Order: sequence, then C-alpha cells, then structure tokens
Amino acid sequence: MNQVALITGANKGIGKEIARQLGEAGYTVLIGSRDHARGELAAKGLVADGIKAETIQLEVTDPVSVRQAAARIAAEHGRLDVLVNNAAIIPDGDAGVTEVAADVLRAGFETNVIGLIEVTTALLPVLRKAPAARIVNLSTSLASFTLVGDPESRMSTVRTLGYNSSKVAVNMVTVMLANELRGSGILVNAADPGKCATEMGGWDTARTPAQGAAVAVQLATLAADGPTGQVHAESGRLPW
Ligand SMILES: NC(=O)c1ccc[n+]([C@@H]2O[C@H](COP(=O)([O-])OP(=O)(O)OC[C@H]3O[C@@H](n4cnc5c(N)ncnc54)[C@H](OP(=O)(O)O)[C@@H]3O)[C@@H](O)[C@H]2O)c1
Repeated sequence: MNQVALITGANKGIGKEIARQLGEAGYTVLIGSRDHARGELAAKGLVADGIKAETIQLEVTDPVSVRQAAARIAAEHGRLDVLVNNAAIIPDGDAGVTEVAADVLRAGFETNVIGLIEVTTALLPVLRKAPAARIVNLSTSLASFTLVGDPESRMSTVRTLGYNSSKVAVNMVTVMLANELRGSGILVNAADPGKCATEMGGWDTARTPAQGAAVAVQLATLAADGPTGQVHAESGRLPW
C-alpha cells in the first residue's frame, strides 16, 4: 500500500531531510511549502534522487491555504499516514523576559502553536482514514523545564522566550491530542532534533539536518505498540 506523508515547512532544513528519509522508506512525500516555487525546487531535487515527492502550498497561518491543502490531500490521496508539523519560526532576538515585545510573542504562537493546531485539525479526517496514522510535532530542548531550569545547561542561557514558550505549548498540544486519540490507532509524539546547521539553528554546529531529522522519522514510523504523548530526542525521552 502506498503510504502518504505531509511535512510542513519541508522546502529546506530539517523538514526537507525528514521528507527525504520518509521518501527513502517508501512514502509518497508531500512537501509543504508556503512558497510554491521553493517547494518545487526541493521536490524536484528529491524526485531526481528517486523519491516520490509532490509540492503542496501550505502557509500554516493562512486558513484558506490550510483548507485547500487538506481538500487536495483528501481528493488526490484519500488518506494521510503521517503528518509532521515541522514549520516554525524563532521570532526572538536575544532579550530578557521583561524586554520581549508582545508582537514577538504573538508571532511565535501564531505560527508555532495556532498554525500547528489548525493544520492538525484540518487533516485529522484524512489521518483517520489511514490504518495507523502518526503525528509528529517538532519540539526542542529549549522547551524542557528541566534543562532550561538547570544553570549548568546551555539551554538556561538562551534568551528566546517567544520560541521557548511556544514550543512548551507544542508539547502540551502533543500530550493532550495523544490523550484524545488514545485507542484510535493514531500515535502523537514530539521530536527534538537537537541543534542542527540550518537557517534557524545557525551554521555554527556540526550536526546536520539529516541527523536532526532521524528522531522525527522514527516517531513517524512507530509500530502500533509505540509510545504516544511523549517528546523524544536522539538520546531518548526528553525530560519535561
Ligand atoms: N535547527 C535547529 O537547531 C532546531 C533545534 C530544535 C528544534 N528545531 C525545530 O525543527 C523544525 C525545523 O527547523 P529548521 O532548523 O529546519 O528551520 P528552518 O531551516 O528555518 O526551516 C523552517 C521551515 O518552516 C517554514 N515556515 C516558517 N513559517 C512558516 C509558515 N508560517 N507557514 C509555513 N511554513 C513556514 C520555512 O519556510 P520558508 O523557507 O518559506 O521560510 C521553512 O521551510 C522547527 O520546528 C524547529 O523549531 C530546530
């Protein structure tokens, strides 16, 4: 059976590598991209490497774009086996908690949380049509209270409240949706890719987007007895 996976924000970075790895595992991958041309460029590269990839225009903060993407997947594929909510922004510069502008906080929540919920809600009907759908939300160590609260951890030094708090909300969405879908066959988990060399992660790290993608791909391809409602990194389960 041909399995279908949608990855949001898959025109570059970790999302593109998640698409590549799922494509190599045999999935038809739908490259979610808010800019159709950038999505096409990524999809063409993957197709040239022998992967079944298609572009799907998807701006996660635009309800019309989200609705159209969901309608197209329903019409052309009839079901969705994997949804990877990867698209996100870091709205912050470096600022203390009392210095962060309200617009920065709003922007982070708009894309990283509300966009993710809107996309998931629109796609739930086609996810339910798959025999064992998987939902993976991209999270981060910067959303771990344990790590950010540890003065010895690098995570305690990063001053990006808009990003961190939005990803804390993503973790709660993950847990609550997993609870709601328990028994449905759909597993919902979050993946921390680790700091990777991308536009968001910066280029000052040796960890590749492909390495970061691997944990999301594992969670996207879990067996029926796999976990649900958890956050995993390469090293295992991430502390809350
Ligand atoms: N890189 C890291 O070190 C790191 C560490 C921990 C967690 N993560 C998480 O991993 C995921 C991928 O990060 P990355 O490093 O690959 O980031 P990236 O290179 O900046 O790529 C982000 C992707 O999201 C898309 N995007 C942003 N806003 C969007 C919107 N409103 N609608 C649709 N697409 C949107 C971008 O599209 P455009 O190209 O059009 O901008 C791009 O395709 C994110 O969820 C991030 O929080 C990354």
